[in-house]
Amino acid sequence: MSIKLKSLLQTSPNGQEVTVRGWVRTFRANRFIALNDGSTLQNIQCVVDFESFDEALLKQITTGAALQIKGKYVESQGKGQSAEIQVEDIHLYGGADPETYPIQPKKHSFEFLREKAHLRVRTATFSAVMRIRAALSFAVHQFFREEGFHYIHTPIITGSDAEGAGEMFKVTTLDEKNIPTNENGKTDFTKDFFGKETHLTVSGQLEAETYAMGLGEVYTFGPTFRAENSNTTRHLAEFWMIEPEMAFFDLNDNMDLAEKFIKGVLKYILENCQEDLEFLDQRFASEEKTKPQIERSELGLLEKIKFVVENEFVRLSYTDAIEILRNSKPNKKKKFNYLIEEWGADLQSEHERYLVEKHFKKPVILFDYPAKIKAFYMRLNEDEKTVRAMDILFPGIGEIVGGSQREERLDVLKKRIAAMGIEEEELWWYLDLRKFGSAPHSGFGLGFERLVLFATGMGNIRDVIPFPRTPQNASF
Ligand code: 4AD
Ligand code: MG
Repeated sequence: MSIKLKSLLQTSPNGQEVTVRGWVRTFRANRFIALNDGSTLQNIQCVVDFESFDEALLKQITTGAALQIKGKYVESQGKGQSAEIQVEDIHLYGGADPETYPIQPKKHSFEFLREKAHLRVRTATFSAVMRIRAALSFAVHQFFREEGFHYIHTPIITGSDAEGAGEMFKVTTLDEKNIPTNENGKTDFTKDFFGKETHLTVSGQLEAETYAMGLGEVYTFGPTFRAENSNTTRHLAEFWMIEPEMAFFDLNDNMDLAEKFIKGVLKYILENCQEDLEFLDQRFASEEKTKPQIERSELGLLEKIKFVVENEFVRLSYTDAIEILRNSKPNKKKKFNYLIEEWGADLQSEHERYLVEKHFKKPVILFDYPAKIKAFYMRLNEDEKTVRAMDILFPGIGEIVGGSQREERLDVLKKRIAAMGIEEEELWWYLDLRKFGSAPHSGFGLGFERLVLFATGMGNIRDVIPFPRTPQNASF
């Protein structure tokens, strides 16, 4: 049996026979193979006595080749590692022609590696990012289980538009060369696979609400899709969202849970992903050095994560935020692209980042937004102008969470639906929740990749998901 490097490196070397399997990172001086198997950031040095091996075999041991190595696990003679393997047997599974294998032991740009997304996990940076992504994903499930939540799977193909915005991908099996039309000349969706118009979901929230009204506290963690043409370092067309939904929670309970959740999962990786985080911390530091002084992060990656875990988030109403922004230097000096003049303006990421990075220097939870700029399902406040919405804003990221207390009053909800021009019939089942055993409830959505972006200190959301989907790009 072979042993994973992660376990091997935790045992003390005393000449025991071991078998390891992995991919060659480097082969130096026809003598030192650095092998990595993905279980840890660290490679194992395998020392080859080249006279004992076939020259033709050694020639094929190049960066990227897959090997099994048997040998004695001993204390290292050289510097740079404490243990190594004295190689006795090599089995080559598959070579990697150095003329064509693109991942060579040198610095590759992330742009280049995005084009080689099927091979980039063989680099130290991407393997560290993906191990942290996996750990965070586990931490999410662990957190909610410990809190008594039930994991539910909401549909990916949907007949309703949860966010009420026209940014969904169509799902159809109609023949594009021969689209059936009805008497108005419009597409006849009764002929389509589901007999109605369907899309990929933008959120599992509405369905999660139905389950919260029976199971109490539930969450979804699944893929969501947005066909918005946003080519930014924070947007994906396909991303994973975690959406808890809780019966009998008001907005304050919701904010408390969201804060506890984010802190809990970040604490988990601080405790369980130390090696990868330290590596990414160094990467982050050297990346920051290439930036002009004013753009540099004041804190290192590990410091940033610890800061979030240890400090209370600021809670601020939208109205108070507008006051701060209106009186801010960049607003007065007309440095914002969108100047804040009146109450009711939608906040752009430049405003969110000002609040978080310049004004408070802390994560901020903004709540009680104007009803006009938020979705139909958010609970209307007494003032009839604002809704019980909350967004969590993070340094370097902007919005990481969007959530709200839901409108549980049937009459108010119906009015909001009508005001937004949504067909009531489409939401008949959602309205039923307000007819039968309606109760206050709340929930939020956290964009998983934005969390991974924060936790790894990477600069582009395309580099924290294995195969990013963005406008004009669905390779692999
Ligand atoms: O604020 P959003 O649109 O909220 C909802 O979808 C609600 N239904 C959630 C709920 O209350 N259950 O999206 C939630 C989060 C955002 O805060 C952001 O972190 C992430 O999802 N997000 C994206 N992440 C990557 N790429 C995109 N295009 C994203 N759009 C939203
Ligand atoms: Mg939002």
